[in-house]
Amino acid sequence: MVRSVVRGIGSYVPPKVVSNEDLSALMSTSDEWIRSRSGIRERRFAEEGVYCTDLALEAVRRALGDADMEPSDLDFIIFATLSPDHHFPGNACYLQAKMGISDIGCLDVRNQCTGFLYSLAVADSFIRTGMYRNILVVGSEVHSSAMDFSDRGRDVAVLFGDGAGAVILSPSENGDRGVLYTELHADGQYARALYMDVWDISRKPFLGPEAVQSDVIWPKMDGKTVFKHAVIRLIQVFQSALKKSGVRPEDIKYVIPHQANMRINHLVAEKIGIPPEKFLHNMQKYGNTTAASLPLLLDETYRAGKLEKGDLLLLLAFGSGFTWGASLLRW
Ligand code: COA
Repeated sequence: MVRSVVRGIGSYVPPKVVSNEDLSALMSTSDEWIRSRSGIRERRFAEEGVYCTDLALEAVRRALGDADMEPSDLDFIIFATLSPDHHFPGNACYLQAKMGISDIGCLDVRNQCTGFLYSLAVADSFIRTGMYRNILVVGSEVHSSAMDFSDRGRDVAVLFGDGAGAVILSPSENGDRGVLYTELHADGQYARALYMDVWDISRKPFLGPEAVQSDVIWPKMDGKTVFKHAVIRLIQVFQSALKKSGVRPEDIKYVIPHQANMRINHLVAEKIGIPPEKFLHNMQKYGNTTAASLPLLLDETYRAGKLEKGDLLLLLAFGSGFTWGASLLRW
């Protein structure tokens, strides 16, 4: 049986560290408030002039190095982001050009914090049907240009950071490793619980002077609704994925959860009965990097030497849309 295995992985965060204290100088907030509500201590912000695809390119170089591959070995690119370089064309096209290659297919996935899981599922399907062999899957975000650092936007601005992660998926004939099972969900009723309507095609023009002066250019979040649904859906999808794939909780080496909020993840871990040391985190350092969150954490775990061939990992994500999902991966 053909399965999709991770042949190479890499990640990159921009060098500029922004602490909770740094944000306190911009808005009415405090290290204590941010840490107690989210677990986040600092995040990285890209400098002016840096694109989302620039962060991605660094992560891709590391993933190619890890796989011992060249850009020309790739057959397809999938790019998950909610902060593309421009509204169109998609980031996968920009990235392809920056990698110095052309011709291979490029696809952008706009599924926010679950974008990487959706992208992984698409890549896995392409590989298992034999359509493509080596697929680059990227999650990358530059949030720091599109957040309101005044008191009005403080509930969102303190939570997010910039970063990128990339994996190269390739087929393996030895069917016991790789992506074993994925399930994906969405509930569009909650689209406006976490959204940004800067590009509203019903406005004519979509972004006139009035719109620019108003708050439509900033992301908006109903934090309590997001929190409640995240906990419920992550627990549900964890339980469903294990049941449908016949895996027991004790078989899982690590849960790699989306890095939005420590309180959310602690509640989920407690409810599903997974020991806290198996539920990995790096949001303290990076905040919520949306589509980059899972590959960034996976790459850090791998480079820390914590993963051995055959380890069973469960990737979990929830985000705007609402979208959520789970993927079982045998390393
Ligand atoms: N610093 C200080 N105060 C802040 C603040 C900040 N950065 N952001 C908001 N506040 C204020 C609010 O204005 C509000 O003030 P008020 O009571 O005077 O109206 C108060 O803090 C709300 O506090 P609390 O009730 O403790 O908020 P909360 O428990 O709902 O926590 C979040 C707020 C945003 C941290 C929480 O709802 C959350 O984590 N939601 C999920 C967010 C998330 O993970 N999003 C991404 C999903 S992929």
